[in-house]
Amino acid sequence: MQSTVGDKEKGPMIANPGAEKTASGWRRARPMDVSEAFELADSLALAFRDNPLNRAAIRGSASRRVRSNRCGMRATLAAAGGRATILVPAVQAGAGLGGLIALAPGGWPLPPPPVFAQLEYWFGQGFGTLRRWGKAYHVLAELHPTEPHWYLQLLGVAPEARRRGIGAGLLEAWLEDVDREGGSAYLETDRRENLGFYNRAGFEVVGTEEILGTPIWRMGRPPH
Ligand SMILES: CC(C)(COP(=O)(O)OP(=O)(O)OC[C@H]1O[C@@H](n2cnc3c(N)ncnc32)[C@H](O)[C@@H]1OP(=O)(O)O)[C@@H](O)C(=O)NCCC(=O)NCCS
Repeated sequence: MQSTVGDKEKGPMIANPGAEKTASGWRRARPMDVSEAFELADSLALAFRDNPLNRAAIRGSASRRVRSNRCGMRATLAAAGGRATILVPAVQAGAGLGGLIALAPGGWPLPPPPVFAQLEYWFGQGFGTLRRWGKAYHVLAELHPTEPHWYLQLLGVAPEARRRGIGAGLLEAWLEDVDREGGSAYLETDRRENLGFYNRAGFEVVGTEEILGTPIWRMGRPPH
């Protein structure tokens, strides 16, 4: 069987590839188990560490950004529990590699997280970072579609686990549900490199903004 171990700051070390890790094995997704929430928060914290908006909002070293992200991801997962689709790679310890958090129509915005998670978020982020995230959130909230839609809140794969099809597999699994139920989908991304990745899944750019000096692409996908 596969073993995935790693350092919280450096990311997962992927060892002993087993039979489950064929090209199609990496692409399979499953719902996260509630016991995996902290592991997923760690892998998402790493996944977003070097994204432009992350650098602009947190402004610290790579390890400071991972620590700060971890608080944000834990708060998001605490708020999302029971309200969101949360998928991870279907391989063993998949939550350590990355995951997807998405909301059904009417599910956005998530409510504030429970108090314990809010406290961790506030103390873990620091005032300046909180203020900059708040600013980014408000700009994007103003532009958020008003008609019912499926929303991709987060999709991230730890750097060492990328380019194996994990991201595409998580996205496909969610879009299968979207297409079965019907309706349009929406997301935001701060990386130009992601545009082709999302184009292939049927998303088109519907607007571009600059937030904290960083371009943000808003993408929509019509009902399929
Ligand atoms: C965007 C992201 C989720 C993609 O995850 P991923 O697991 O690397 O995605 P995939 O492996 O499915 O596809 C990525 C690329 O690898 C290629 N690829 C997939 N399997 C491959 C393989 N076995 N060998 C080589 N390349 C492969 C894909 O064709 C794709 O090419 P592209 O860069 O031209 O689009 C990941 O880069 C990430 O977490 N980025 C940081 C966070 C972020 O920006 N998230 C999205 C905004 S919400």
